Amino acid sequence: MQAVAVFPSKKKLDLVDVPQPKLQGSTDVLLRVREVGLCGTDREISSFEYGSPPPGSDHLILGHESLAEVIEVGREVRSLKPGDLVVAMVRRPCPHAECRPCRAGRPDFCVTGDFTERGIKGADGFLTDYVVDDEAYLVRVPHALADVAVLVEPLTVITKAGDQARAIFSRLPYEPGPQRGLALGAGPIGLLAAMVLVADGFEAYVYSRDAEDSEQAELVRSFGAHYTSSMTHSLESLAQTAGQFDVVLEAVGFAPLMLAATQMLKRNGVLALTGVPPEAATAEVNAGRSLRNLVLRNEVVFGTVNAGRRDYLSAIQHLEQFMALFPESVRKLITHRARLDEVPQMLTHKQGIKNVVEMSRAA
Ligand code: BGC
Ligand code: ZN
Repeated sequence: MQAVAVFPSKKKLDLVDVPQPKLQGSTDVLLRVREVGLCGTDREISSFEYGSPPPGSDHLILGHESLAEVIEVGREVRSLKPGDLVVAMVRRPCPHAECRPCRAGRPDFCVTGDFTERGIKGADGFLTDYVVDDEAYLVRVPHALADVAVLVEPLTVITKAGDQARAIFSRLPYEPGPQRGLALGAGPIGLLAAMVLVADGFEAYVYSRDAEDSEQAELVRSFGAHYTSSMTHSLESLAQTAGQFDVVLEAVGFAPLMLAATQMLKRNGVLALTGVPPEAATAEVNAGRSLRNLVLRNEVVFGTVNAGRRDYLSAIQHLEQFMALFPESVRKLITHRARLDEVPQMLTHKQGIKNVVEMSRAA
């Protein structure tokens, strides 16, 4: 079967032929991959700036935003059966006994850094026809979500950020009233963040560089959020006209904006950073003012990566809610469905919102 792989030492991205995997362990599950979403991480790996092949291999099979169908299950698998649809969790625990988060089933908080991530770090991904995975890392999704469930993995970035933000809010000695939320960025994660804000009852805003008459802006308004373009409004002017926010979810990865985002917070507010800026990025900040504000206004800024099973379950619930509230807006997030052999081209020439690779359809 074919797969898309990156060869970091040869600086090459190519289609490769790989053998079809078989069940080995008793909790293994054989999956037929249906769809794989592509994101900025895949583009970084394809430009050889990030990621690593499995130990002993010269290439890494890409793809971490999966949707697959269960074909066969090992003898001890209890939670899944052939025909089920699943999304695979990306990160796998490190081997160290002292890593409490990994031992507790939360490798998204791994403290040793020796975790693996399928399709990203030290383990092959899903851009191929069949894969084998352990039941422990598979999350079942309802068939009713089949045509949008490839969005579950990117959505977990936001459901985890939301879960963490809620934990931080729970420190407050009072019940918050109606809340206002701001998503920074109108890529897939920013748009999903805004959808979560709307579905969770926030008054939701999106701030991004697309024009106010762009498709992205139109899409934002279609599910009930407000849109402001950085082409015509600075962050300060957004704060002046729209006011400040209880929660800001950043999904841009542009360092100056990430640092400036605290000025959008209300007192006691929370800023979640999910974008990953290039390591060499620099930005000028008025450190005194930012730090003074953090302290004098009880603000919290935190970073978040990857997600645990509860975040996958929350993502599935939210996606069901989105499909009841604004199904057409959700479908519009997937702007292009392509074949496996189009992947190299799609990774080097980004277009639209979310690009998805179609591996197989329902039998
Ligand atoms: C993936 C995460 C992963 C992160 C860092 C993201 O694109 O969605 O699962 O942890 O990249 O590698
Ligand atoms: Zn991703």
